[in-house]
Amino acid sequence: MALLPVLALILVAVVDAAEVCHGTPADRLPNILHLVADDMRPQLGAYGHEYMITPNIDALAQRSLLFDFAYTQFAYCAPSRNSFMSGRRPDRTRALNFLTTFREAPGGKNWTAMPQFFKKQGYFTSAAGKVYHDGMDDPPSWSYPSNQTKWIECQPGDIHDPHFNYCGVTKDSLIQYTDEDLALTEGLKRMELAHQSGKPWWVSIGVHRPHTPYRVPAGFYGSELYPFDVAPPKHRYPPQNVPYMAGNWADGDINDPAHGCPSCVVPDERSVEYRKWYYAAVTWTDHSLGRAIRKLEELGVENNTIIVFHSDHGYQLGELNEWSKKTDTELAVHVPFMVRVPWKQNSIGKRTKVRAELVDLYRTLADLAGLGDHVEDGVQGTSLAGAFDDPDAPPHKLQTKLAYSQIGRCACALFPKYNVTQCDANACAHVPLPAFDFMGYTMRTGDYRFTAWVPFDNTTMRVDWNRTAAYELYDLTADTGRDFDFDGFSVNLANNASYATLVGNFSQQLQHAVNTWD
Ligand SMILES: *[C@@H]1O[C@H](CO)[C@@H](O)[C@H](O)[C@H]1NC(C)=O
Ligand SMILES: *[C@@H]1O[C@H](CO)[C@@H](O)[C@H](O)[C@H]1NC(C)=O
Ligand SMILES: *[C@@H]1O[C@H](CO)[C@@H](O)[C@H](O)[C@H]1NC(C)=O
Ligand SMILES: *[C@@H]1O[C@H](CO)[C@@H](O)[C@H](O)[C@H]1NC(C)=O
Ligand SMILES: *[C@@H]1O[C@H](CO)[C@@H](O)[C@H](O)[C@H]1NC(C)=O
Ligand SMILES: *[C@@H]1O[C@H](CO)[C@@H](O)[C@H](O)[C@H]1NC(C)=O
Ligand SMILES: *[C@@H]1O[C@H](CO)[C@@H](O)[C@H](O)[C@H]1NC(C)=O
Ligand SMILES: *[C@@H]1O[C@H](CO)[C@@H](O)[C@H](O)[C@H]1NC(C)=O
Repeated sequence: MALLPVLALILVAVVDAAEVCHGTPADRLPNILHLVADDMRPQLGAYGHEYMITPNIDALAQRSLLFDFAYTQFAYCAPSRNSFMSGRRPDRTRALNFLTTFREAPGGKNWTAMPQFFKKQGYFTSAAGKVYHDGMDDPPSWSYPSNQTKWIECQPGDIHDPHFNYCGVTKDSLIQYTDEDLALTEGLKRMELAHQSGKPWWVSIGVHRPHTPYRVPAGFYGSELYPFDVAPPKHRYPPQNVPYMAGNWADGDINDPAHGCPSCVVPDERSVEYRKWYYAAVTWTDHSLGRAIRKLEELGVENNTIIVFHSDHGYQLGELNEWSKKTDTELAVHVPFMVRVPWKQNSIGKRTKVRAELVDLYRTLADLAGLGDHVEDGVQGTSLAGAFDDPDAPPHKLQTKLAYSQIGRCACALFPKYNVTQCDANACAHVPLPAFDFMGYTMRTGDYRFTAWVPFDNTTMRVDWNRTAAYELYDLTADTGRDFDFDGFSVNLANNASYATLVGNFSQQLQHAVNTWD
């Protein structure tokens, strides 16, 4: 009892400080609430997809700076997370699969990870759910232990499709709760502890959805939320002239008897069904993350907290015959990304065309917190903080910035009857880096996506540009890409003579970028 008045006094003091500086962090380091989704492409109301039911993220966007063009560095969970959490590109982390983390990969990196940076600056740091990849957590990042909540597959008693791509919890389900219930329970607990610590804090909360299986509770079933006509993909076949290794045709996250080769197409009826349940999983993600945003308001610290929301990579729902990620396609690398900085008035409710990379997060958040000068040498990426002062006319450096991604290709030798350009897009997940055969580097400019498939030399651990196997060039100059149905991505123009100079220029530019970032 005797402690209560003291606590009350501290609370009053904190509130006073916030009021004195009108919610700006002038005399106090801001908190950071970091929200991460899994396999989510920017199919949200806030990104102009009005039929999507995503009220919480849409409301967050109205109070944030939203990046229309944000990209992952590697369209695969573990490598992407190793990259943005360490602030290094995949070529630097060399953690390109499910076997190693950035600390264990060859070279032994004792880097300061992004949350660890804030911990060193006196923050309380913790996490719940999938932030680092499941089973690959990074204890040095956290001042209070994180909780990587478990992955729950479809349960007996769930309603589901024959191949367990989606499942809906029923009153008969063996497990009634979802992954997201666990992550949010643990996450909200950590927000509470962080608040009580009296320190500035960082809390990351990651959810598994909308990753397969699209497991959602009653009230969130695909057919309930999206009863109207959902369109099938417009371009159902691979791009014309696409090199085989560019795709992930042989596999996908979707299990469907009609899927598994470039010329097999999931019938519209089932394609639409999967899409509805993916959309439902997006709505469930929105609902779950909304709990964390409301918790912030309940704690009364929303004016002194940066909220950052993004996913680890994008996703294809049948467009160009892909039902997954693990490619360099626009849809696999394009992510939702928004940052709320309450005291950056010019950024509130704005959108920006600055091309953002998830590797930029580290420097951006350090700068926005006023700690940019303390970031260690070697952290890559560019601070996007300048975009928050004037999203319409950001610094020139940000206006001209390009976005780069990469993906590996392995087990190419398993396909002797084909040319070496046929590889297994999934094999890289389970083999060490020296077993990589190709690296596919891709770059996004305002009007084009350009990709080069370059042999990886496992003695030098570098790529040999002189033996580049294939190029891809997609022209988006006249493409609205409405609902992810880009016409420009349906034709690879790299071998069209009219584009030869452009291919030459882009090839030089991409090679230069890759050679100078390490
Ligand atoms: C790694 O760095 C931390 C400080 O950030 C230091 O305490 C620790 O001893 C280092 N570990 C190794 C193996 O160098
Ligand atoms: C993580 O959270 C789950 C669900 O709340 C709980 O059962 C488990 O004991 C926690 N694990 C750790 C290591 O805290
Ligand atoms: C946060 O700022 C808004 C707008 O200035 C204000 O209405 C609200 O009361 C503030 N909240 C707190 C908890 O200070
Ligand atoms: C392999 O590539 C060579 C040279 O480009 C070509 O002549 C041959 O037809 C290709 N073989 C197959 C099976 O595609
Ligand atoms: C390195 O590449 C060579 C030639 O492609 C291959 O034979 C060898 O198995 C590779 N080494 C490892 C460790 O994967
Ligand atoms: C690639 O070609 C250039 C120009 O011909 C040459 O200078 C360079 O050494 C070659 N690189 C490799 C790795 O063979
Ligand atoms: C090459 O590109 C030009 C310009 O876009 C186009 O007019 C032409 O049809 C293309 N050629 C082929 C063979 O696709
Ligand atoms: C290619 O680069 C050259 C030299 O920088 C430039 O003059 C030319 O306009 C570029 N061409 C295209 C199609 O981008």
